[in-house]
Amino acid sequence: MEYRGYDSAGVAIVSEDTINCVRAKGKVALLKEKCLTETLTGAVGIGHTRWATHGEPSEKNAHPHKDCTGDIFVAHNGIIENFQKLKDQLVKKGHRFVSETDTEVVAHLIEEYAKKEKDFAKTVRLALKDFHGAFGIVVLSKKNPGTLVAARFGSPLILGIGKEENVVASDATAILPITNSVIYLNDGDMVTLSGGSYEISNFKNGGEKLHRTTTTIEWTNGAAELGGFPHFMLKEIMEQPQALRDTMRGRLVPSEGTVKFGGLEAFENRIRSLDHITLVGMGTARFTCLVGEYALEELAGIPAKVELGSEFAYRSSAVNEKSALIAVSQSGETADTLNAIREAKRRGALTLGIVNVIGSSIAREVDAGIYNHVGPEVAVASTKASTSQALLQIMFALYLGRMRGRSKSDGQVLIKEMQKLPAHVERILKSADKIKALAKKYKKCENFFSLGRKYNVASAFEGALKLKECSYIHVEGINATELKHGPISLIDKNLPTIVVAPKDSVYEKNKSSIQEIKARKGPVIAITTEGNKELEKVADAVLYIPKTLEMLTPILAFIPMQLLAYYLAVERGTDVDKPRNLAKSVTVE
Ligand code: M6R
Repeated sequence: MEYRGYDSAGVAIVSEDTINCVRAKGKVALLKEKCLTETLTGAVGIGHTRWATHGEPSEKNAHPHKDCTGDIFVAHNGIIENFQKLKDQLVKKGHRFVSETDTEVVAHLIEEYAKKEKDFAKTVRLALKDFHGAFGIVVLSKKNPGTLVAARFGSPLILGIGKEENVVASDATAILPITNSVIYLNDGDMVTLSGGSYEISNFKNGGEKLHRTTTTIEWTNGAAELGGFPHFMLKEIMEQPQALRDTMRGRLVPSEGTVKFGGLEAFENRIRSLDHITLVGMGTARFTCLVGEYALEELAGIPAKVELGSEFAYRSSAVNEKSALIAVSQSGETADTLNAIREAKRRGALTLGIVNVIGSSIAREVDAGIYNHVGPEVAVASTKASTSQALLQIMFALYLGRMRGRSKSDGQVLIKEMQKLPAHVERILKSADKIKALAKKYKKCENFFSLGRKYNVASAFEGALKLKECSYIHVEGINATELKHGPISLIDKNLPTIVVAPKDSVYEKNKSSIQEIKARKGPVIAITTEGNKELEKVADAVLYIPKTLEMLTPILAFIPMQLLAYYLAVERGTDVDKPRNLAKSVTVE
């Protein structure tokens, strides 16, 4: 689970009549070192990487947490929203808490129920019913050494069925080294693992037994390995030509100038008659929606707007059965985006998903969806998923556009250009050394601006986020036209600006922005179209992307930004794949 970002880690293993628990602040490598000095043997255990929500990152707050007696050990992903109330009640009953976490309350509440109920699984079930919030939970009991109980509500949990061992985890990549045969548990599911067997039940419904279908994960274990690259981020940047091919595979219909999506077929009539679309996502996923927004209006003539997943429920926007909400998420587990889906359903809208992780919560909650098919994305910074997300939104816009009167020949022109994207990306990747040299030159700068217009507002914002999260440099993404409305007062020789200025309908305007920056001695790194040499006379550095349709330019412009972020991070010695304070899947609101 390391790749998802964490600040401390721990394990607890049942060994005959005791449970040994080791925890450490910081990296798993430190935990591993500590484990070598302990006796940790046994066939049943739990482990956890923590990303602090309640209480600072410390050994004391690291999971697993235990009850007063040391009989019960718990690890938890998510947030127990009513933990304070439960904790106050338990303290009154004499329970002693040692951490600042919400999770510890789980162990103590199970201990409390165990005073009356002797069956381990039943005590867990009784406790689970008292929690509000989101959780994926695993529980060990010293008195039941061969058993592990796990449950989910709102946070992901997957059961892996191996040959000689079973495993539960909140992410498929953690299961792949053991088995690719999995069961995606649903909210309200509890699973009891013991002696090589498992039993799934509903903890909300008196423990009613459930049957869940087994699925085979197609991703290979090797897909989540470095394969000779120094970092996952670089590996995933380099995988983009293939990722884009996989995104398009089997979906383009050149003869009809359109696109087909197997997952949307059952909803085609409803999609055709939509009168409004809201695109939601968080972070990078939301920036890709800025591409989708323009494309939907241009190709399908449908009003579209982008919203943060987190804000959707708080807006009284007119969303109804004639609207669709498209949720974009690599992990499919982002809590803010999930909330938007639930709200859209409440208001009667059709919910669609663009998701990479198969079987993830978003994939399962939307009415219909499209998978990216780009394989696991391990680095916290989203790269190959983001270019695929932008492409899928353009493909969806074409699919809708063709149903609503856009001509076959227009569609054919766009498809032809889409098919060239993987080769275009390969060309850009060849300029990695040039970008590496730029990173060396600018590595000491603590502030940057990143500008773009129209389709490439997305590139400016996404580039800014990528640089920020990977290199810890402060970068402000700005719509280029806004520069003169305030931010320009910051421009001087120490503040470099990246300007995404391909030869498109707003090129001349972008050129003026570059002139305005240069007139104030600001260094400029321009990203423009191959063959356009005129920016070399004004900009301090020029990076090139191959010629394509205006709509597709962000997919290419993202790439030099990703490489710049990567090489700046390496130059500045940051933790490239797991930047500080960040998690890969943000499963809390
Ligand atoms: O898994 P998701 O696509 O829903 O994640 C959304 C954001 O948390 C994510 O894009 C985040 O901004 C990345 N760290 C950006 O690189």
